[in-house]
Amino acid sequence: MFSVAIDGPSGAGKSSVCKCAADKLGFIHVDTGALYRALAYNALKNGINTNDEILLEKLLKTTKIEIQYINGLQAVLVNGENVTDKIRSEEVSMGASNISKIGIIRDFLLDLQRELAEKNNVIMDGRDIGTVVLPNADLKIFLTASPEKRAERRFKQLLEKGEKKEYNVILEDIIKRDYQDSHREIAPLKPAGDSVIVDTSEISFEDSVLKITEMIEAKL
Ligand code: DC
Repeated sequence: MFSVAIDGPSGAGKSSVCKCAADKLGFIHVDTGALYRALAYNALKNGINTNDEILLEKLLKTTKIEIQYINGLQAVLVNGENVTDKIRSEEVSMGASNISKIGIIRDFLLDLQRELAEKNNVIMDGRDIGTVVLPNADLKIFLTASPEKRAERRFKQLLEKGEKKEYNVILEDIIKRDYQDSHREIAPLKPAGDSVIVDTSEISFEDSVLKITEMIEAKL
């Protein structure tokens, strides 16, 4: 099986770029952030603080997490409930960043991620795919963009959905999450030594997809 590891900070467009590239190549796209989000959603739903390691560990004992592909789109199920449409709120985003600092949470998700790459050609995106989850991936890319560009894109996305949020608040959230994700002790966000850095600050979405697809094709 062929595996592509794509890591990078939040809002760099990893998921949408990877999804398009995977469709073009006939690979599956695994958005691993959705797994952390699903666990955070489940914690919040059960009234558990996403920084409370002890209660989270207890909750994991009764938690089953699955990935399914419905019409080519990734769906995440927690104890049989499809939570895909419920995990994109700002509260869940920060909750996911909180729980992802915890070792037992990361271990809990490791086998599922590796199994998917053993059985499929994958483009897997996250924070530690090239460094921890798939250290032998065939290609590793670190996809990034400046915090300002990422905030600008998020601002526009929200406007399109009819939600208005101040640009400065979005930028602050992005900077906070970047700091938290890259300064944690376990599996912090950082480019793998053998990754190629792709900065999308000045390139369009379509050109980002093209670039990533070409890089993969060159390795196939
Ligand atoms: O990619 P995302 O924004 O959906 O990820 C949500 C959070 O999950 C992110 O802030 C950090 C965490 N995460 C992680 O620690 N490791 C991954 N492989 C993917 C996500």
